[in-house]
Amino acid sequence: MDVLGIDIGGSGIKGAPVDITAGKLVEDRVRIPTPQPARPGPVAAVVRQVVERFSWSGPVGVTFPGVVRDGVVMTAANVHHSWIGVDAAELFDGAAVLNDADAAGIAEMTFGEGRNRRGTVLMLTFGTGIGSALFADGVLVPNTEFGHLEIRGKEAEHRASDRVREENGLSWDKWAGRVEEYLRHVEMLLSPSLIVVGGGASRKADKWLPYVHIDTPVVPAALQNEAGIIGAAQMAFLAGPDRGIVSLHGR
Ligand code: BGC
Repeated sequence: MDVLGIDIGGSGIKGAPVDITAGKLVEDRVRIPTPQPARPGPVAAVVRQVVERFSWSGPVGVTFPGVVRDGVVMTAANVHHSWIGVDAAELFDGAAVLNDADAAGIAEMTFGEGRNRRGTVLMLTFGTGIGSALFADGVLVPNTEFGHLEIRGKEAEHRASDRVREENGLSWDKWAGRVEEYLRHVEMLLSPSLIVVGGGASRKADKWLPYVHIDTPVVPAALQNEAGIIGAAQMAFLAGPDRGIVSLHGR
């Protein structure tokens, strides 16, 4: 079955129809820059544009870069603060809406590095911010926000996101040092058996992952930055005909 997945990021809104059985995009993805400032109205207009580009009329799943509970946005660190309190599921015409890192994690646990992994698995996405998705024996604990843990008096994503690397012109090994320090902290708190790193930086993992040395195995996401699109589509399917947000619990 094909479902349209749309991934709202700090810099781009990407979408494509996904074969949710195979976990693969069935058409080339569309990418439209995120309107700045990223207010609800203009972002929703771009989401509609993506739907129209594919002349789509079936189920749609959409990711959002903040906490989303029952379709309602609770935080907005990297998009306009006017999102807080917005019913995104309603704004996006009834789509299933979930946190971007949670979506990427779901896809990676089904089709990527987390497949058949039990125990505690943590997915971290390094992009505009740092997103997290925590799984216990394959079950998602939604809306963890480990990118906001404090390291050296600053939010981790203000020291170690991919955006900070780019904006400050940090070398790969210098940035990797910051990532390592962050991962050590997370490792100490959660004792995961595996950490999967995704987001924009995962495409260039060969440039920085060799500099990261912690006890927990750390692997780049197999689905790279298509994971959000795929996970959004999966969730829309799981949500059923009414396309409301659901969790994977009990499924
Ligand atoms: C947000 C998270 C999001 C992450 C990646 C953070 O600033 O608080 O909800 O998953 O950025 O976009």
